[in-house]
Amino acid sequence: MTKFYITTSIPYVNAKPHLGHALEFVYADILARYARQQDRQVLFSTGTDEHGSKIAEKASELGISPIELTTANAKLFVELLGKLNISNDRFIRTTDPAHEQRAQLVWNNLREHIYKKEYTGWYCTGCEEFVTETYVKEQQGTCPNHDRPYEQLAEENYFFALSKFSHLIKQSIDSGEFRVVPDSKKNEVLSLINEGLEDISISRPKAKLDWGITVPGDDSQVMYVWFEALLNYITVLGYPEHSDFKDYWPADIQVVGKDISRFHAVIWPGILLALGLELPKNLYIHGFINVDGKKMSKSLGNSVDPNDIVDKYGTDAFRYYLARHIPSYNDGDFSWDKIEAAYNNELANELGNAVSRVVAMIGKYQADVVGVIPEPSHDIHEYSEALDNFKFDRALDEVWEQVRGINQYIDTEKPWQIAKNGDEQHLQEILSYCVGCLLEIADLLVPFMPTTAQTIRDTFKDGLVTKQERALFPKFE
Ligand code: MSP
Repeated sequence: MTKFYITTSIPYVNAKPHLGHALEFVYADILARYARQQDRQVLFSTGTDEHGSKIAEKASELGISPIELTTANAKLFVELLGKLNISNDRFIRTTDPAHEQRAQLVWNNLREHIYKKEYTGWYCTGCEEFVTETYVKEQQGTCPNHDRPYEQLAEENYFFALSKFSHLIKQSIDSGEFRVVPDSKKNEVLSLINEGLEDISISRPKAKLDWGITVPGDDSQVMYVWFEALLNYITVLGYPEHSDFKDYWPADIQVVGKDISRFHAVIWPGILLALGLELPKNLYIHGFINVDGKKMSKSLGNSVDPNDIVDKYGTDAFRYYLARHIPSYNDGDFSWDKIEAAYNNELANELGNAVSRVVAMIGKYQADVVGVIPEPSHDIHEYSEALDNFKFDRALDEVWEQVRGINQYIDTEKPWQIAKNGDEQHLQEILSYCVGCLLEIADLLVPFMPTTAQTIRDTFKDGLVTKQERALFPKFE
């Protein structure tokens, strides 16, 4: 079996999880389940990013210790993963001692590319990111993502010689060896590299921030949160000596959001090249999910708790909404009205209805006996191609062609008339063909809606119809 390693980014735990986190978990889970379906030996890792000023600030605001804050919030992330039926194999916290120790090992192995220098720069704690003077001017001194003024930091830091690797990073992206998807995001990354890469600060003085991993050999500094957080993708595999690391690195797919593409498409590859490691095979950069057409923000107070959506519509319906109605290559929108419309029209009226009609007819005309189910007959090339390119929306459009196809087929064939005319054999052929199509649809839905897929399979198991106690997707009136 071929190995397959997939990761999500690791969210900050200064607050509880939001819709954007749910979107990323679901995307990665679809890909992990799809790979398992193709007999790949999957390792799917996610986790939490727990150091840095953002966390330290929040903890002090609440009057608790950083670790108390991160432990409480990490728990909420784990709960959400369960609620979304995410099949991750690992959950790494950057406060895990194993991560801390291995991050120090990485630092040591990078020594020839690390140097110390006096530095003055503009920083946003919300982003945990340094920005250039020009950019600060363009934004009139305030971070557009966090609506807070940039702070000027003047300190002695360790630097990583990222600039040395510009050419190699660019070449790997250009050649497709390190595939950045979609093209629009790849082009943004390439133009960033073309503008010229500077070496980056990778530490902070403890005197200013002590919530982090100590720099080996220098007790006065901690590692910059982004630097050590990126390392989670290899520390979780037991870099450098563990067999998991040897078996699973390089990652097959890394899933991240558009605001952190620079870290994953430029800085991370730079670190890997400096360590003499291979780059991930694919980086899929997704867009942002907004609420009612507006960016989620604290000041608007329009953030939606993903748990509430699952409580109302169920896990699979929410997964379906994210995968089909948030454009896979673009930003998208959540609203309660939109999910209700998708639920009623597509899940209840189309998919649910196709299943319940077939079940009812087999019950009525054939005493629950399914008959001989024909082999799957649909061409799923477009579906597979869509998934290979992270077009979840497109893949589900394909599945829905088939769902609509069954309903239309039933409408045209009118099995109830055939039953009236007494042509039992023809009737059985039609109904078992429908069952064949539903089972094929169930297979295609496994990555997206695992429970629904299983329910459809169970309904027609062993050639007999097992009636469900409730409709697959009871309608909301
Ligand atoms: N801690 C860093 C990631 C470190 S990875 C080594 C971080 N955390 S985050 O909590 O701010 O974001 C986690 C993920 O959620 C990122 O991929 C980010 O793009 C994504 N999203 C945050 N808000 C989002 C939306 N509104 N919509 C979709 N995804 C968004 O960045």
